Amino acid sequence: MKELMQKLRDASLEAISAAENIDGLEALRVKYLGKKGELTGILRQMGQLSAEERPAMGQLANALRSDIENAIEERKSALSEKLMELKLEAEAVDVTLPAKDVRIGHKHPMYNVLDQIKDIFIGMGFEIVDGPEVELADYNFTKLNIDEGHPSREWTDTFYFAEDSSILLRTQTSPMQIHAMETKPLPIRMIAPGRVYRKDEVDATHSPMFHQIEGMVIDKGITMADLKATLNKVVEKIYGEGTVTRFRPHHFPFTEPSCELDIRCHKCGGKGCPTCKGEGWIEVLGAGMVHPKVLSGCGIDPEEYSGWAFGMGLERLAMGEYKITDLRLIFENDVRFLEQF
Ligand code: DAH
Repeated sequence: MKELMQKLRDASLEAISAAENIDGLEALRVKYLGKKGELTGILRQMGQLSAEERPAMGQLANALRSDIENAIEERKSALSEKLMELKLEAEAVDVTLPAKDVRIGHKHPMYNVLDQIKDIFIGMGFEIVDGPEVELADYNFTKLNIDEGHPSREWTDTFYFAEDSSILLRTQTSPMQIHAMETKPLPIRMIAPGRVYRKDEVDATHSPMFHQIEGMVIDKGITMADLKATLNKVVEKIYGEGTVTRFRPHHFPFTEPSCELDIRCHKCGGKGCPTCKGEGWIEVLGAGMVHPKVLSGCGIDPEEYSGWAFGMGLERLAMGEYKITDLRLIFENDVRFLEQF
């Protein structure tokens, strides 16, 4: 019996140390130590031994069981270590490999200009507001004192929705004046940049979608002097100190009086050049004192409050600033173009 155990010891330890994987080890455990395993088989023969021999044999069997168990555990941890090594090797990262070239996006030149303008107005205490591009004709026209029959309401100029002429794509950011007056507590100092839409054919200076920035101040005692002083300051920050401005009378239905603001051409100093198309002046924006009818339509008493407003095209400003000669370049988003700014 002792010999049988010695044989079992030799065979099992050899098999265990040769096992190549965890499953194989488990199979060996069953083979040697399981209920129907080889050690149990030997122990069954204990009955043939004398009472004196049994304890010593029992001890030997126990020692053999624990030796086999230990050998299995040892082999198991050696195998899993090897497995881990293989895994690490397979997943190894070559830190010396050159990185892939990541192309980072680029800020659009028009948004450079917009951010510059936002900064100027934020510095003057204005808030920036956002509003719908799909608008009611009521807000885009009627509440701005633009009557039925006004040419800008024509189907040929404005994108209306289906057959319903009460809903449209806003043609200007001016409806934001109405939204602000209807929802905000007074006084108001706001700017509202955004997209606007008109039925224009695409060419070097026209696009059916472009950007405007609206601005408005409503408070007690606001006059044309506030309009001029504020806009002169803004223009100076955009075009540089000493920029000469001119406020030219104009007509807008929602302001009274109304004006357009020109700057003396910063290229030629007013002599006339391609930048100002020979005029000596460059038109920058439309503005005026908010019409009393517009104020009262929004529930604001024109006897108590007054205000001024302006609207400015952004593309033209960016084109002037970066000497872009074709509007289409601004919307095509060709990286070769954008990367220049
Ligand atoms: N909404 C006008 C346009 O698209 C621009 C404008 C003019 C806005 C005068 C104003 C303003 O706020 O006071 O041509």
